[in-house]
Amino acid sequence: MPTNHADSERQRRPRRVVVVPDGPILIEGPVEVELDDGRRVVSDRFVVALCACRRSGTYPWCDTSHRRRRP
Ligand code: FES
Repeated sequence: MPTNHADSERQRRPRRVVVVPDGPILIEGPVEVELDDGRRVVSDRFVVALCACRRSGTYPWCDTSHRRRRP
């Protein structure tokens, strides 16, 4: 399958991962995540927000629950 210039450029450079303070981990997609129970989930988004706080209702994806104040 032919790739365009942007695709080949993305494959050449390291994948960027950004750790957001008190927030998610942003990863250039697409990604496949293996969970601790062995299940695998896939996201085809351009940037994927992985939950680092474990409070997300859609774990492993961030649903912005990290923004809520704890009592
Ligand atoms: S980091 Fe956003 S919900 Fe956990």
